[in-house]
Formats: sequence, structure tokens, C-alpha cells
Amino acid sequence: MDKLLIEGGNPLHGEVAISGAKNAALPLLCAALLTAEPLTLTNVPDLNDIGTMLKLLAQMGVKVHRNSDSDSVTLDAATLDNPVAPYELVKTMRAAILVLGPLVARCGEARVSLPGGCAIGARPVDQHIKGLQAMGAEVTVEHGYVHAKAARLQGARLFTDLVTVTGTENLMMAACLGDGETVIENAAREPEVVDLANCLNAMGARIAGAGSDVIRIQGVAQLHGAQYRIMPDRIETGTYLCAAAAAGGKIRLTGTSAGYLDVVIDKLVDAGCVVEATRDAISLSAPQRLNSMSIRTAPYPAFPTDMQAQFMAINAVASGTAVIRETIFENRFMHAVELIRLGADIKIDGNTAFVTGVDKLEGATVMATDLRASASLVVAGLVAEGETLIERIYHLDRGYERLDQKLTALGARVRRVK
Ligand code: EPZ
Repeated sequence: MDKLLIEGGNPLHGEVAISGAKNAALPLLCAALLTAEPLTLTNVPDLNDIGTMLKLLAQMGVKVHRNSDSDSVTLDAATLDNPVAPYELVKTMRAAILVLGPLVARCGEARVSLPGGCAIGARPVDQHIKGLQAMGAEVTVEHGYVHAKAARLQGARLFTDLVTVTGTENLMMAACLGDGETVIENAAREPEVVDLANCLNAMGARIAGAGSDVIRIQGVAQLHGAQYRIMPDRIETGTYLCAAAAAGGKIRLTGTSAGYLDVVIDKLVDAGCVVEATRDAISLSAPQRLNSMSIRTAPYPAFPTDMQAQFMAINAVASGTAVIRETIFENRFMHAVELIRLGADIKIDGNTAFVTGVDKLEGATVMATDLRASASLVVAGLVAEGETLIERIYHLDRGYERLDQKLTALGARVRRVK
């Protein structure tokens, strides 16, 4: 099992290119199920989760062609002879639930293993199921599988009880081939939802309102193939900005946009960083020492929960005390105890963490528990004095492309050890 060894104390300098967004790529790959014609996606990040999704689609009958010399993938779902998502694949990647809506819409039937929980929470999919039932699907949950059937989904007015990103994406994809208009109220407004809607419209869907909390979809008889470039990964972008903010120095991130990170960048500026953004790049210069900045996670456009762990790490060495409130997931402070092992002063009270900055962190061996928790340990390791060894970094490989090479390019002393 790989580990990451970091020698802390080096400011970061230089430039790295940001990859395509994991959380846009995953639903976009599933959109290929909605048509018998080829869908070509470019700017596809090379991540373990992407590999798992491609394996899942291939075992359904999708022909997957990954162009080795580029970041593009062509998917041909002309013949879908096995509309099933088995537990073995779903248990390693919860986003597999995103095949449910497209399979019911295209094939009239789907059997998808319940994703089950993960480190950060129970992660139920009741809203996905409720929406499909409202569109006329017969859905049963037996032996750990969701089994959904519908001759043809009917347009309906859907209202999700809470904002759900993949729930919105699943229902939006299902409604593309429905009979009549579907309205999704209380829809997620995340940029990745908009990216998916833009690709579906390029495939002949008729979606309006993506990015707002009311999305209208006029069902059509079928979708056609398309070529689509995936948006940049705003969470990868924010993670590198946090790394530089904490470690010091000045970095430039290319192939990305500040447009989806306003609230994160505002917080980094409040903390004392100088941030310059152009159309497709962001530069950050770090101050001598960061000011603490409190955050409260909430659905887009508020502060993203996927940046909470990274902000806990930078607050650990800032001056002052920050209050961090996590309102999306019930157990997303797993990184706190690991940061405390590095010398952080953090007190947890329910879904609130009180982080008092310390003068320095000291390297130690720590354990990654989930994707973004791992990222926060990398940020802390870059700052801590001495060596930090991060175990179970397969979590990192799920969501960060070539993280050690990119950090090394920025002057960090990072290497992967067996
Ligand atoms: C997406 O997960 C992202 N994953 C997550 O990123 C992200 O943290 C999350 O949205 C919130 O922004 C992908 O896009 C692949 P939700 P998702 O449905 O869709 C509850 C990462 O690190 N809920 O918006 O699974 C749920 O338990 C990952 O890249 C229900 O109760 O999240 C949670 O408390 C982690 N019933 C809240 O809603 C449902 O049917 C928001 O979950 C669905 C969700």
C-alpha cells in the first residue's frame, strides 16, 4: 500500500495545470448511456474513480475507447446488454449510483447496488429513488440492490427534500428521455450540474435552468452523440491554493477558472493572500502568516464541503481561532484527529470545529480516511517541521491526478513510498 512522504517547510513556487473535474466527469461518463451514438469527452482526468466508472460502463456493454496519447475518452453505448451495477464495483465508488437514471430512461430497467455509506456519512439515495418513482418508475430495494423499471418515464414535477448534487444529476439525466416536461425544484446549483446540462443539451436534450434551483427538462425521443470538454476541477484548484497559502510562496494554476471558487478565494484573501485571476488561470501569493478564517459549508454557491478539510489544515497554522461548521455531511471531521497528531489545536463539538492556530506543526505518521481528509493532511504535511508520512493514500489517488508530481513541480519535497 503506497504512502506519501513529505518533508515540510518549503514554500511553493511555480506553475501547475489543473485537470478536468472529477465530479463533472463521473456524471458525464454516465450520460453516454442515454444514446446509441458515440460520446467523446475531453479533459478527462486520469483518476482511479474514472477508471472504476469506465470498468462499470464496459461491463454493461458500453464500448470504451481511451485515447492513450490524450485526455479524451469515447464511449459507445449502442448495445447495452447488462443494465446492472454490481456491488463489487459500486462499493469502491459511490458515484456509480449515477447510472441508475440513465439506465431506466434508456433501457427501461436497471439494477444498481446500493452505494452504502462511506467514512463521511451514511450517504442515502432516497431522493434519487423518490424522484424516479414520481416519474412513474417501479422501484424496489432488495438484497442491497435498487431495482427500477419503467416502460417510459413520465414528465413530473419533482421536489427534493434537500439539495443533492448526484440526485439532481440522476433525475436530470432520466428526465431527458421522459414523456413530457419534468421540473426539478430545490435542484443543486453546483457548476458540475451545469456542465452536465450543457453536455446533455449538446446531445439534443432540452434542459433550461441548470445552475438555478429550478431545472426544466422537456423529454425527447432520443439523444445523439457529441464531443464535450469537461470543466476544470474547482476542488483540485482550491486544494493547491490552500497548499500555497499554508506553505508560503507564489504559485500559478493554469487551465482553471476563479469563477466557480468565489467564496473560497474570498476567504483566502481575507486570510491575507493576494490572488490574481485571469480567464483561465489563478495566481496566489501567500502572506508571512495567515489570519484565521471561519467557514460554514452549504450547497453551492456557499462554501463547498469538499474544501472544508483543507481549510481546517490552513487554519491550524493561522493566527487566531476559526470556527468551522460542517452542515452537509454528518461525519466529515475525520481529518481533525490526524491534524492533532501533527500538533494542531482543534476541538470538535458536534458539527462544529474550533481551530486555534499554533506556531508550528511537527511531522508525524498520519492516516488518510477519505479523499478530502487526505488532501488536508498533505497541506499540513507541507507546513509541518520534519517528515510527515501519510498512509492509505489510495484515497488521494481517487480524486487527485499525479498529486506528488504536481507538488514536486511546485518545489515541495514529496515522494511516494511503498
Ligand atoms: C456530491 O456527492 C459529490 N460527489 C461530493 O464530493 C460532494 O461532497 C457532495 O456532492 C456535496 O457537494 C460527486 O459529485 C460524485 P449530495 P453526493 O447528494 O451527490 C444527503 C468528493 O470529495 N442525501 O449532494 O453524494 C447526503 O447524505 C465527494 O469529491 C440524502 O439524504 O452528495 C448528504 O448529507 C465527496 N438523500 C447531503 O444530502 C439522498 O438521496 C448532500 O449529499 C441524497 C443525499
